[in-house]
Amino acid sequence: MKAEDLKALLDDMSMEEKIMQLVQLPGWEYEKDAAVTGIAEGGVSEKAKQLAGSTLGLYGADKIMEIQKKYIENHPHHIPLLFMLDVIHGHKTVFPCPLGQGATFEPEVARKGAEIQAKEASADGVQVTFSPMGDLVRDARWGRVVESTGEDPYLNGRMVEAMVKGYQGDDISDNEHIAACVKHFAAYGGAEAGRDYNNVELSEQTIREQYLPAYAKGIDAGAKLVMTSFNTLNGLPSSGNKWLMRDILRKEMGFDGVLISDWGAIGEMVPWGFAEDLKEAAGLAMEAGVDIDMCTEAYGSNLEELIGNGTISKEMLDEAVLRVLTLKNELGLFENPYHGASKEQFEKICLSDESREVARDAVRKSLVLLENDEETLPLKGKKIAIIGPYASEKNMQSSWAISGSPETSVTIMEAVGESDDVKLFLNLESAKAAPADGKTIVCIAKGSTILDDGTVTGMRVYENENFDEENDKLINEAVEAAEWADEVILCLGEHFEQSGESTSRAEIGLPFIQMELFYEVQNVAKKLVTLVFTGRPLDLDTIPELSDAVMICWRPGTEGGHGIWDVLTGKCSPSGKLPMSFPWVVGQEPIHYNAYSTGRPKPLEGPGSFTTRYLDVPNEARYPFGFGLTYSEFEISEVNLDKTELSRASADDKITATAKVTNTGKVEATQTVQLYIRDLVGTRVRPVKELKGFEKVTLKAGESAEVSFDITEDMLQFWTIENCFESEPGKFKVFIGFDSTTDNSAEFMLM
Ligand code: BGC
Repeated sequence: MKAEDLKALLDDMSMEEKIMQLVQLPGWEYEKDAAVTGIAEGGVSEKAKQLAGSTLGLYGADKIMEIQKKYIENHPHHIPLLFMLDVIHGHKTVFPCPLGQGATFEPEVARKGAEIQAKEASADGVQVTFSPMGDLVRDARWGRVVESTGEDPYLNGRMVEAMVKGYQGDDISDNEHIAACVKHFAAYGGAEAGRDYNNVELSEQTIREQYLPAYAKGIDAGAKLVMTSFNTLNGLPSSGNKWLMRDILRKEMGFDGVLISDWGAIGEMVPWGFAEDLKEAAGLAMEAGVDIDMCTEAYGSNLEELIGNGTISKEMLDEAVLRVLTLKNELGLFENPYHGASKEQFEKICLSDESREVARDAVRKSLVLLENDEETLPLKGKKIAIIGPYASEKNMQSSWAISGSPETSVTIMEAVGESDDVKLFLNLESAKAAPADGKTIVCIAKGSTILDDGTVTGMRVYENENFDEENDKLINEAVEAAEWADEVILCLGEHFEQSGESTSRAEIGLPFIQMELFYEVQNVAKKLVTLVFTGRPLDLDTIPELSDAVMICWRPGTEGGHGIWDVLTGKCSPSGKLPMSFPWVVGQEPIHYNAYSTGRPKPLEGPGSFTTRYLDVPNEARYPFGFGLTYSEFEISEVNLDKTELSRASADDKITATAKVTNTGKVEATQTVQLYIRDLVGTRVRPVKELKGFEKVTLKAGESAEVSFDITEDMLQFWTIENCFESEPGKFKVFIGFDSTTDNSAEFMLM
């Protein structure tokens, strides 16, 4: 539809029709036999269902086509309904959780994954995904870190940009793409004490330098929607924060797409004590520029009155409605209201071999090797015990892979079973009886349940009447298998409902039963490789000291087993790097590498009395941002700068920083070379280091490569005392290394 036709349509709509375009209803209201429950007292009326502009949570081509057909027929202007869904890290082919994707340090992995997600979701009737999440995360207690790509604004920005491009392609009206929604604007990840939905207090400097850049990258990449966050920012709930939405998002960032509230967030202004009732909340949200009200009756029940009494202008209403209609038009819904929905196409492409291969590659690249004493990995033994609740666990996705089906995933056990040179046994007696024919013998033992009895997860309280009995038996079997084996792979981890929304944890260790299993197995194992499945950085307790190798597997998704087995067996070397610092203990949280410098830095040696320190633990992370081992060894030369002065006056001026990287080990491996910069003196205190670039290099044993980064003036800008982004002349340090603790550096002057 042409822009003028859209405008004409708008002019022809009744006030009620317009208002209802701004209302989003939950999908269950449209499902057959849906109980009339939920958002309005007394339920949602048939009329509301008929006029609401969008819905969320539905998928299934036939179902969506049927709902759409009926809806359009009955709508006074035959305007199509818009279908949205949380496709976060996979629709049917589930990729590693976003935190795992962050660990790849490879935006192309995220782009390709998003492209496949869009293709599958679109064929299944979905038109908009509530992804990517651009929230910066620094506190591992917050369960939603699993949905972020980590603690660094630059890395997050690159990933968010890639995901938007993957979902949307060049044109969202084509059947294989869907619209992306950058969320949760803004600073949702800054929740005080890591407790979900809590208040966020941040200085403007920190908001602008750390929290906003990743969202901005998504918007620059053309994201069609932005979602407000649940939190307050310095006292203002986001859905009613005019400064944030109108001044920053719309004016400064230039966003002209649809702004949608998070679920119920407009209504939450009432319990926040920011609005007296839903009517006031509706007015505040409209003034802030929130176009769609997700699942409250604030807009539906109040906008007419607010417009009638002049609180909200008709122009403001029209502006919001036009944005929603424009999105529908960009998706091509006026011509083709079903968009990509096609059962036939869905069945053809869903979980295809090609998609699985992309997911498998993403898994391999996301795994982070933390320890590998005496080259324990890759595996070498002839008798291997794979023990632990994740040895054969189908559910390796996160709580946000809501449309993914765990039964389609490949477990570690299943991947092992596919290997020609392995004989797999589900009990020790048969493994022991296996004839020696040169093949590796693998025995599986579950070892323990995932959760302790009585654990509270995001969705339920986990109860198990036979907990002790069941676990005694499992642990005994596991110990016997561990005694028999040359090598043990112990597959431990969080439950999928322990990370995600509303899953903040004050203790970030593994469940007690799994630690018990760990100690029992460790006691007898000759070589112990511990794999950790997790949606957040964990307090790893004694696992690193007492294991011979440790690898973080995140929530790897559908192809988890394949990707992990590829790496364990040395088909490829691990290359993942931590996108978030792993602490020694939870008391260090929030912990992140790019902290501001302090007036009393702790000396490198000695107790450091009266300096900034903890008496009982180091200041530094146990495993820092950017850290991850490979199966090889790498060396890096000093940093070479082609010149040591950069001009502020000329936008084209640049310094090229180069370092030579050499694979000094025995096997081919990929190293992620990272560029960090520190501004030594500023009108505001600057972070001790900031990531400004990275590049992955794959080198054969003995091979070298030069890696160069261009440094330009815009990379040195920050939120100065003048309250604008500017660079300041002076001395800078540039670091090139393999993780955020590198001190391999050189200096230059900005003139
Ligand atoms: C979450 C959002 C999500 C929305 C819709 C909310 O509870 O915070 O991230 O997109 O639900 O499912």
